[in-house]
Amino acid sequence: MFLDLKNVSFKYKGTDKYVLKDLNISVEKGEIVSIVGLSGSGKSTVLRLIAGLEVPASGSITINNRVVADKNSFVPPEKRKIGMVFQDYALFPHFTVHSNIAFGISNIPKKDRDERVNRLLSLINMNEYKDRYPYQLSGGQQQRVAVARALAPNPYLLLMDEPFSNIDFELKQKMRMEIRCILNAEAVTCIFVTHDKSDIEDMSDRTITITAE
Ligand SMILES: Nc1ncnc2c1ncn2[C@@H]1O[C@H](COP(=O)(O)OP(=O)(O)OP(=O)(O)O)[C@@H](O)[C@H]1O
Ligand SMILES: [Mg+2]
Repeated sequence: MFLDLKNVSFKYKGTDKYVLKDLNISVEKGEIVSIVGLSGSGKSTVLRLIAGLEVPASGSITINNRVVADKNSFVPPEKRKIGMVFQDYALFPHFTVHSNIAFGISNIPKKDRDERVNRLLSLINMNEYKDRYPYQLSGGQQQRVAVARALAPNPYLLLMDEPFSNIDFELKQKMRMEIRCILNAEAVTCIFVTHDKSDIEDMSDRTITITAE
């Protein structure tokens, strides 16, 4: 298995109610899995735990045969090679669209970097917006930039939290198809949260349902 959550339990600091109790999830390399569940059931929390933004109270998380979290060890998010699209996009406000997308690939030569950013700008239909700042964009445009930014460094695990929720149906269809192709071509494993049946049908191999504790 590429990703394994074993008996993961978690509660937020300052609260005494567990959000997740003994959660088990296994995902194979290259699988695209959707996560569904009621609002507040813990879907975003699951992604945050996999990304290393939260620490499990108990249980273990293994990615690519490496234990990234258990009672003895913890690998910080920047060392997990994970791409993440947050539910609130979390773009860097002082960076342009181009710089936001290029953020994770500053280590590659400028020519290749620009080429990659331009390809991603085409994917999200936003070539003419590359010099704008996030505050000059609509919500859906910010969301598209967040998706492009997460894809840029070729992560081997992509986590997306309701990545298409503010994008119109036609563009969403095109993006889902193209993202699926990109992921399949590189055998990138992907887990995304959605409330939208058409996301599940168009993009995922399998669905996991999170139920509130
Ligand atoms: N930082 C936090 N501190 C305390 N409680 C939190 C925190 N973040 C989330 N929670 C609580 O944890 C539970 C799970 O939240 P989470 O954001 O994972 O839900 P979700 O399934 O993603 O919901 P939605 O579909 O509305 O995005 C909720 O009851 C929420 O109120
Ligand atoms: Mg959420």
